[in-house]
Amino acid sequence: MRKYVMAGNWKMNNTIAEGVQLAQELSNNYENDWADKVEVVTCTPYVDLKPVVEVFDFDKCNIGVGAQNCYFEPSGAFTGEISIPMIKEIGCSHCIIGHSERREIFGETNEMVNKKAQALIEGGITPIICVGESLSVRDDGKYDEFVRDQVKAAFAGIDAADAENCIVAYEPIWAIGTGRTASPEQAEEVCAAVRDEIKNIYGESVAQNIRVLYGGSMKPENAEGLLAKENIDGGLIGGAALKADSFTDLIKACL
Ligand code: 13P
Repeated sequence: MRKYVMAGNWKMNNTIAEGVQLAQELSNNYENDWADKVEVVTCTPYVDLKPVVEVFDFDKCNIGVGAQNCYFEPSGAFTGEISIPMIKEIGCSHCIIGHSERREIFGETNEMVNKKAQALIEGGITPIICVGESLSVRDDGKYDEFVRDQVKAAFAGIDAADAENCIVAYEPIWAIGTGRTASPEQAEEVCAAVRDEIKNIYGESVAQNIRVLYGGSMKPENAEGLLAKENIDGGLIGGAALKADSFTDLIKACL
C-alpha cells in the first residue's frame, strides 16, 4: 500500500510573516494521526524555510518542509544558488526539482534535473521530480512519449533502492494555474505511464512502491475523483495550498 503524499508548492508567494501565519494555521488544523495515511509537505520559498520549520517543530506537527529548487554542487562560485547542504541544515525533508516553471522560465534541462536528483539522494533529501507536457505536445498526441522521456532522463544513473524513495509529480503545463484540470482519466493515463516507465527501468517492485502525484489546478472540489485513481498517489498543489482551509480539505480527501 502506497501512502498518499500531499505537497503544497507555494511558488513565489508568502513573505516570512505571511508564511509563518499560514504554517501556524496549518499546524492548528493538522492532526498527527493523519500521518498514518498521508505524508504532508509544504514547499516554501527559501527565505521562509527556516521560520516554517520552526513553527512545525515547536508545535510537534508532522508536516515536512521542502524547497522548490536547489543547485547540485555542494558549494562554490554559483552566485544566487542554494546548495543541498544548506537546505538540509535548515531541516528540509523534500525538494521539488524540474518544475515546468523552472524548465520554461529558467532553462532547467533534463540533465540538470538528473544531477539535482542524484545530489539530493546523496544528501538524504527526497526529490519531488516534476514532469509534464505543454499544450502543444498534448495537442500533437505525443504526451506519453514526452513524459516517459522526462522520466528516463531524470532517473538516469539512479539505482533501484534510491529510485523507490523518490516522488514523481505529473503536472501537465496546460493545467497549471489555469483552472483547467486534467480529468481523472487524463491524469490517470499519464501517471500510469510514469509508473510503467519506472517498471521498464527498475521492475515491478519499485514501480509498485514509488509515489506518483498529479498537479495542476487540484482543489478540494476535484481531488476525490483524481485520488480515487489507481496510479495517483496524491497531489502537488499550487494555488489551493496558499489557504490553510483548502489545503487542509485536500489532505482530508486522502483520509
Ligand atoms: P496550481 O495548483 O496552482 O495549478 O499549481 C500546480 C503546480 O504547479 C504545483 O507545482
